[in-house]
Formats: sequence, C-alpha cells, structure tokens
Amino acid sequence: MNNITTIGVLTSGGDAPGMNAAIRAVTRAGICNGFKIKGIYKGFDGLINDEIKDFTTENVSGIIMSGGTILKTARSLEFMTPEGRKKAYENVKKHEIGALIVIGGNGSLRGAMEFGKEYDVRCIGLPGTIDNDLYGTDSTIGYDTTLNTIVECVDRIRDTAQSHERIFFVEVMGRDAGFLAQNSAIASGAEAAIIPEDRTDVDQLGHFMERGIRKSKRSCIVIVSESPKCGALYYADRVRKEFPGYDVRVTILGHLQRGGRPSAHDRILASRTGVSAVEAIIQGQRNIMIGVKNNEIDYIPLVEAIRSDKPFDRKLIKVLDELSI
Ligand code: F6P
Repeated sequence: MNNITTIGVLTSGGDAPGMNAAIRAVTRAGICNGFKIKGIYKGFDGLINDEIKDFTTENVSGIIMSGGTILKTARSLEFMTPEGRKKAYENVKKHEIGALIVIGGNGSLRGAMEFGKEYDVRCIGLPGTIDNDLYGTDSTIGYDTTLNTIVECVDRIRDTAQSHERIFFVEVMGRDAGFLAQNSAIASGAEAAIIPEDRTDVDQLGHFMERGIRKSKRSCIVIVSESPKCGALYYADRVRKEFPGYDVRVTILGHLQRGGRPSAHDRILASRTGVSAVEAIIQGQRNIMIGVKNNEIDYIPLVEAIRSDKPFDRKLIKVLDELSI
C-alpha cells in the first residue's frame, strides 16, 4: 500500500448533488483498505485553517440520498496564493495526510493540481460539478440530477406558457458550458436553446425567430445558458423590441438547480469514482482525475481534465432543431 496511511477528503467550489455519495465512497473504501480518513471542512479554506476531523464509517451513514455536502464547501481565494498553499501544507503534515481527494469542478481541480506539483501530497480529483465541463469524463457528479431538476421545472413552466400563449426564456446554469441548456431543452421538448458553444457563430435568437415560431405554436420555451451579458433577460428585452406582439416572460432557475436528492445515476457515478480514487492511491497514482468514459473508469491527468474545451456534440443542436418544428 506504499507508505501512505492517511487520506484527506474535501469538497470545493459549487456544491453538486452526489458529493455526499462521493464522500461516503471515499471514506468507506479508504477504511476498507486500511487507511485513516480525515474529513476537511469548507474546501481548501478548511485545509488552511485546520478544520479537519477524523472520519469513521458513521460520519457518512445516511448521507447517500442527500444533496449539498456534509463537508461544506468554499471557493478559497487564499489557496490561490503560494502563501495559502504553504499554510495548507503545514496542516497536511500535521495530520499526516499522504493523499488528498478533491471533489469539485474546474477551479478546484486546478488548485489540487498546483498543490500536488508544489508539495509531496498525492492529489486525486473527483469530477464534482453540475456544469459537466470537465474534460475526460462523459458526465460529472451532479450533472444528471440538475438536468432532471431543470426538466421538471420546465414541464411546469410549459403548463402556464401554453395557458397564456407566451414565450418563456428560461435561464439555466452551466457557467461557460451549454451542456445543461442543450440537453435540458431536448429532454423537455423546448423550442430552442441558446448556448455559449454557438454564440459567436450565429445570432441564435434571430435564427430562432426567423426560422419561425410555428404558426400553430402560440407558446414556446427557449432555454438560455447563463451569461453576464446575454442571459434570458437580454433575449426577452430583444424580443419585446424587435418582435413586438409576443407576450414574453423570463424565469431564472438559479440555485434551485443545485439542490435536491441526487439521481441514481449521480449516486452510482460518485460511488464508482470514489472507490476508484482509493484504488488509484494504492497504485501510487497522483495528479489525476477519476472519470468515466464509455462506462469505463478512466484516469485523466489533472492538467487535461481542466482544459476549457470539453467537446460539445454539435449533433445535439440538429436534434433539437429538427424535433422542435
Ligand atoms: O459551477 C457551478 C455553478 O453552479 C455554475 O453553474 C454557476 O455559474 C456558479 O456555480 C454559481 O456560483 P455561486 O453559487 O457562487 O453563485
């Protein structure tokens, strides 16, 4: 088992449903394989401020079904500085942590990578983000649950949109990635999706309005990826000015997308990747993320996982286009 005796686990960045299932998997698989487990609270801030507790199997019982993260989370600014990481390493030494499992998204895995390069601690990432924007894994922990939450909300919005014959712009999360928007649009039968992957190519609203809201369709739903400048409010304003005559409403789903019971898919993904993270530590791996590609566990170097260009299947645009006539 090489010379590592203790594994630290933390969640970082935006919480995602399934993070608790991942904490449970890491803790239980670690204990099964003879490691001591340290739960680190509030992400990297907890590593810096020594908010670290011994974890037993009891700490993680009854949590697989709950959203959020029992370890709490944070986006640590201090950890982005060399001084912050130095303080964090003092606590790593104090608690004899030989390997650190970081459950989080892009920024969190970047932090883990820097830390693993600077100090003698094996950093292993688990893909925990609703955005699904990590390279090298088909899906991230939390993405499937969020997709289902959005679809449920849109089904409800559809009822009122049809009753009043309105255009609804529904804004969803995803940061710079359109996976949530495009796939929730397909799954909810929405008429269009406005996504960052298409932003520079075409005026997506113009395209949608010109192609025509079908005559018989007096109501429609457009899913819009969040964006500081071009979110749902921006498009609703444009329709009011450029296409008067339509009754327009906006719903910004916001943080309700991040909460709730994780889906079976996310619980299984979290459990598989958590167990594999412990296996990877036993094998002597470092600076990798555990992903699942084509239903097989895969090790992806952290430097690859955080690439900003996870492939977006453009055929999904055609699927929605053809099915929304
Ligand atoms: O990365 C997850 C995410 O939910 C993004 O989709 C969103 O842009 C961001 O976090 C919101 O962050 P916060 O909870 O800090 O407002």
